[in-house]
Amino acid sequence: MTEPKGNLEVLDLRHFSAAQLRPLLRHEAVRWERRLHWDYATSAELLLEYLDGRVLPGFAALRGKQIVGYTFGVLESAKAVIGDVYAPEEAERLDNPICDLLLRHLIEMLQATPGVSRIESQLLMFPAGALAEPLLSSGFHTFPRLFMHWDFASAKQGQANAAVPAGLNLQVWQPEFYESAAEAIHRAYQFHVDSGVNDQYRTIAGSQRFLHNVIRFPGCGKFLPANSWVVREEASGKIQALLLSSQIRKDVGHVTQLCVAPELRGHGIGRLLLNCCARHFADSGIRSMSLTVTEANAPAVKLYEDLGFKTLHRFDAMIWNSR
Ligand SMILES: CC(C)(COP(=O)(O)OP(=O)(O)OC[C@H]1O[C@@H](n2cnc3c(N)ncnc32)[C@H](O)[C@@H]1OP(=O)(O)O)[C@@H](O)C(=O)NCCC(=O)NCCS
Repeated sequence: MTEPKGNLEVLDLRHFSAAQLRPLLRHEAVRWERRLHWDYATSAELLLEYLDGRVLPGFAALRGKQIVGYTFGVLESAKAVIGDVYAPEEAERLDNPICDLLLRHLIEMLQATPGVSRIESQLLMFPAGALAEPLLSSGFHTFPRLFMHWDFASAKQGQANAAVPAGLNLQVWQPEFYESAAEAIHRAYQFHVDSGVNDQYRTIAGSQRFLHNVIRFPGCGKFLPANSWVVREEASGKIQALLLSSQIRKDVGHVTQLCVAPELRGHGIGRLLLNCCARHFADSGIRSMSLTVTEANAPAVKLYEDLGFKTLHRFDAMIWNSR
């Protein structure tokens, strides 16, 4: 690891107000926009509220009086999530000594927090491998992931209203689908690589928390109920497949969830949901859509590439389990 330049002091993040951290977040928002076509402003505002509430565990790096980097985590009972790490002066560089140092402090604190038995990290802005060292040396495992982007100008969407197989109905999202949708998500990810990446998928209660986060919070963009879709069994009303979407920039949509019941895969339902969503985005003036996918999830990656998605960026999900 390259040593950070100058004397750096690492202090508890809770010493600092939103006003002091705002310039860093502004800088970071520009990076999100350039690299991922993502308007980070709403997420940044929510983060600034939490920072002002002094509730986030984390650290700031200071050179003299200047804050040159920050990191924070989120504690959810037995799980901690590494929320972010950023140092503006490293944005254009290949090495990240300040971020590396901050991460080491955060990991050490989270691993020593009583009751924390799992830590998840998906630092979307960092290319795969960029911050691997502090995480791998602390016992984390890597799941490479792809940020994929479909520019509607370069590959056209298929039919929005292609027929679903007999006995099923395609319907737009309604709040009352919440519980059945959580069950469908839980079922779709049993024995799936993504249950290793996101442990919420392993239980119905966890899948409900996942849905709650996607629907209520702007972390994955602003939820778009009018362009989120479920496929239900006509007879029972049970949800067998779903696609949830959000808006991450004025002209960019994002898929926050896509899954199909195991017994119904390979019948074109995933493709149909993606085409339906893309067509509705295009009709409302949105020019492209993105999603993230675990690289090892070969059927999903193949389907996305087939439709016209291209990999914009490769990043790491990193997971630590205490046992
Ligand atoms: C990824 C996933 C959503 C794909 O859904 P799906 O409904 O099986 O996808 P589709 O049927 O549209 O396409 C998959 C394959 O079926 C083929 N297919 C399309 N229409 C078909 C039809 N009428 N009959 C048979 N096969 C068909 C597609 O061409 C594709 O074939 P390929 O394997 O040669 O690429 C599904 O596998 C899934 O839920 N996986 C678990 C959750 C997950 O990984 N979600 C994505 C996270 S990013």
